This record gives sequence, structure tokens and C-alpha cells, in this order.
Amino acid sequence: MTTRPWSSTTASVEPGTLDQVTKARLYSGMQPSADSLQVGNYIGALMQWRDLQDSYDAFFSVVDLHALTQPNDPAELREKTRRTAAQYIAAGIEPSRSTLYVQSHVAAHPELAWILSTITGFGEAGRMTQFKDKSQRYGADVTSVGLFTYPILMAADILLYQTNIVPVGDDQKQHIELTRDLAERFNARYGETFTVPMPVIQQDTARIYDLQNPTAKMSKSAESDAGTLWLLDDPSVSAKKVMRAVTDSEGSVRYDRENKPGVSNLLVIYAALTGRQIPAIEDEYAGRGYGDFKKGLAEAVVNEFGPVRARALELLDDPAELDRVLAKNADRAAEVANATLNTVYDRIGLLRRR
Ligand code: AMP
Ligand code: TRP
Repeated sequence: MTTRPWSSTTASVEPGTLDQVTKARLYSGMQPSADSLQVGNYIGALMQWRDLQDSYDAFFSVVDLHALTQPNDPAELREKTRRTAAQYIAAGIEPSRSTLYVQSHVAAHPELAWILSTITGFGEAGRMTQFKDKSQRYGADVTSVGLFTYPILMAADILLYQTNIVPVGDDQKQHIELTRDLAERFNARYGETFTVPMPVIQQDTARIYDLQNPTAKMSKSAESDAGTLWLLDDPSVSAKKVMRAVTDSEGSVRYDRENKPGVSNLLVIYAALTGRQIPAIEDEYAGRGYGDFKKGLAEAVVNEFGPVRARALELLDDPAELDRVLAKNADRAAEVANATLNTVYDRIGLLRRR
């Protein structure tokens, strides 16, 4: 794994230390909640996944069942699911090495989620801050039971695969803690069944901010489109967005998150996409204006995303082949997941069909 100054982790696990013989398991996923991923997903998640996939037995899912907790148009959800998978592959997740699949293709996920819901406290689930935020934001009418049990389904995703590490953004930390609690509780009641997973959380320096509002996280659901760099946007559109990014009146390219959030964010993106160190970029642009700096970044964005976009569009041109790849990977996922689910059903005393 390449070490970059902005991507240090709070819980770093050296490959091989967890399991000397076989590779340790890694699990992560993203919701198919937009037509395109944004640069925060790419830098904050996909680049990490790509770096880690060789050292771990990695499972990456497109969590379409989780996406149902928001209103969706059915045809669009299907399309977003394929698009998300295509972008994983285009960004370098190898479906022949990593198990890249669609959550709803493996029925064990909602099955285990039901079992786990019976050992989750109502108050415990109610303390999840993401649920509290979303239910407050969208109001009682849109707050479904599914939104409430969302973290339990996420726990099932992770525990089905006997996962050792879960690389996620900071906002998911509480959900991983719940997952650990549920695993420990189940193990204590019914005997060792689940591996207790560890989160691998990016430091907040790896958080990418909105180009127009550089104190807010770049997100698939931002208010203004001008602040979001989409992976599947035409590169010339992304270049324009970079040129229009908010900076400050000082005119010097230097990292200072507090006083220069706009420029600092651009520096983090620049460093991430080129694999360079921030001080080297500061030196390169010392005494030059923001215009030059933005041109350099726009070029880096086009160089990095141009090929990713082209590859994703190529994959989406042949949806039948993409579906075949996903089906094959779902078979591998189901094998692992069903083995865990069978043990769970036995342990809790369900009469098995013979
Ligand atoms: P989401 O788009 O919220 O479903 O997030 C999917 C993954 O991308 C998670 O692991 C997030 O932590 C990561 N992610 C999303 N937005 C950003 C961002 N602005 N900066 C860094 N990572 C992000
Ligand atoms: N809740 C996660 C997010 O919004 C997505 C997710 C679902 C996930 N299941 C997971 C992430 C399992 C890691 C592991 O980002």
C-alpha cells in the first residue's frame, strides 16, 4: 500500500499480521445512490480499496438494498447499480481478484440481518447518529423502519464474510462499533461464530470537500453541482469546475486547512491524484498565481479521470457482460456467506430442512 501524508489511518493493519497462512478478509461497499461517483468516493474509498485488494481477500459490494432506504425510481436504481459496479472496475478493482458483487444477489444478507435484529436493542439502534440525522432531515413521513435497521443490514454484510478489516469513512465508525458489539454478543450467547471486525478509518485529511463550499464534504447529494467533481463527467466539464473552484485572496499556494480551506482541498486532491507530496506541489507553484495551480490540477484531473471514465463507459456499453461478471462474483460471495448463515441457523436452534 502506498503511504501518502493525507491518507494515514487510525487503525492500520499490516497485511499478514492477522493471519499468517491465508489472507485476512476485507469488506467494504457503497450505495448506488447516484449516476456517477464523485471524486471524494474515488480518493476516500476506491483508491484505498485498489491499494488494499492485493494484500487481502477483498469483498466489495454495491449495496442496493441499503439504497432502498431512500426514494428511488426502479429503472434508475438498476442503472445506478450497474454504473457503480462499472466504476469500481474502471477505478482498478479487479473482479478476478476481488469479489465484486451486488448485495441483493446474495440472499443471506437480509436473512442474517433479521437474525441480528433480534439481538439488537431498540435503544441501541436508535442511538445511531446517521439515523438520527437522516430522520430529522427528511421528517417522519420518509423515515422508514428500513432506515432504522440500516446499520443491522450493514452488520450482516460484514459478519457474513468473517471480515477482519472494514475500510470506511469516518461517518461509518459508529456502524462498525455496532457490528462489533453484535458479533461479540452473538459469540457470547451462542459460541464463537463471527470474526469481530476492525474499522480502518481515514483521517479527516483524506476528506475531500466541495469545490464551491470547501468546509462541506463533497457528496453525491450536494446542493450545487458546481462544487462536485463527477467521475463520469466529461473531462472538460471537470476541468472547468476546477478552474472555478473557490480559493481566497492571498494568492499563495500553501496548505492551511483553517485559513485556506479552498486551496488546501485542491492541494489534497492534487497530491492524491498524482501521488506527489503536498510540499512538492507548494514548491512548484511558489510565486505563481492560482490560475497556474488550477491549470495543473485540471490537467491531473483529466489525466486520471479520462481513462477511468472511458473504461467505465466501455463496460456499460456491454451490460450483459458486466452482469455475467457480477453473477460469477455473487456465486463466490454466496458460498462464503451461506456457510456463515448455516452455522448461525444451527447455533440459534432453527430446525433445518432436510
Ligand atoms: P457515500 O457516497 O456516502 O455512500 O460514501 C461511499 C464511500 O466514499 C465511503 O467510504 C465514504 O467514506 C467515501 N466518501 C464519500 N464522500 C467522501 C469525501 N468527500 N471525502 C472522502 N471520502 C468520501
Ligand atoms: N453504509 C455504508 C456507507 O454509506 C455502505 C455500506 C453498506 C458498507 N454495507 C457496508 C460499508 C459494509 C462497509 C461495509 O458508506
